[in-house]
Amino acid sequence: MILVTGATGQFGSKTIDHLLKKGVKPSEISALVRNVANADHLKSRGIKVKVGDYTDYDSLVKAFQGVEKLLLISSNDREAVENRTAQHINIIKAAKEANIKYVVYTSFVRKTNFENSSIAAFQNSHAQTEAYLIDSDIEYTILQNGIYLEMIPIFAGEKVAETGAILFPAGDGKASYVLREELAEAAAHVLTTEGHGKQIYSLTNSTSVSFGDVATAIGNQLRKDVKYQSLEVGVFESKMKQFGVPDLYIGMFTMWATAQAEGTMDVVNDTLEEFLGRKPTTMPQFIAQVY
Ligand SMILES: NC(=O)c1ccc[n+]([C@@H]2O[C@H](COP(=O)([O-])OP(=O)(O)OC[C@H]3O[C@@H](n4cnc5c(N)ncnc54)[C@H](OP(=O)(O)O)[C@@H]3O)[C@@H](O)[C@H]2O)c1
Repeated sequence: MILVTGATGQFGSKTIDHLLKKGVKPSEISALVRNVANADHLKSRGIKVKVGDYTDYDSLVKAFQGVEKLLLISSNDREAVENRTAQHINIIKAAKEANIKYVVYTSFVRKTNFENSSIAAFQNSHAQTEAYLIDSDIEYTILQNGIYLEMIPIFAGEKVAETGAILFPAGDGKASYVLREELAEAAAHVLTTEGHGKQIYSLTNSTSVSFGDVATAIGNQLRKDVKYQSLEVGVFESKMKQFGVPDLYIGMFTMWATAQAEGTMDVVNDTLEEFLGRKPTTMPQFIAQVY
């Protein structure tokens, strides 16, 4: 039995789709959800829905009974990044108590100097979870997933087609954006094939791109001039405030833009291509689908 956590989320749902496509029987898949009302689409496909919350240890131990392999999808808790670490540790402890033999964890792509990056807090949470999992004596695979291509339209702004302008303080920094769907396919591949024990995989695209490249791709697709402007961070923040963007989002945009400017997500690796058996979707191909 394979159990997928975060099964009502986007990565979890897509992983389940790919497990089914790869021939895993619905009766061999369990889905951990915290709100059963969102799980009708899973139940109707014959998948066993188990209720559990990352913060509720007993619910996890109960949900994990009879499970052999667990896909631990990292938490999206926005209150405090440290909450995520505590939740992940809860899951790994519960997995051990329930005698789960193998845990696959969705981490984030990382470079050696991550402690000095603007996303150090996120990275620390992943690094601490990885260390806890490695020390747990459960067989593991760590998927250091690249940043989702799906973040690009959010960073570029919903009005880019109208205004022809992208304001984002990412400088000339590059990142290896990758399609979430393909990362989910890779997770399903790892769960259904052998030889991944004790492996840490960087799953990224085969090229990194800058926001200048993104502007060119959107411009080519829309057949109009799209300009990218990397404003100084303070100027960017006050412009976003003028546009009425909530502070939480301004902080998030600035953090990810700065991380890109620092090159902290500029990691290129062919492992994803190997797992998919084809080239990953490129940024211009993604832009052509979205715009
Ligand atoms: N690589 C990237 O660029 C990138 C970007 C964004 C996020 N991420 C990370 O990757 C993860 C998966 O991405 P995604 O797109 O699938 O995110 P998502 O759609 O927000 O899904 C997150 C899932 O985690 C579940 N979850 C969160 N806290 C929980 C808790 N306390 N107990 C039980 N379930 C809980 C959510 O449950 P509900 O459905 O009930 O809300 C949801 O199903 C995210 O959670 C985040 O850690 C990566």
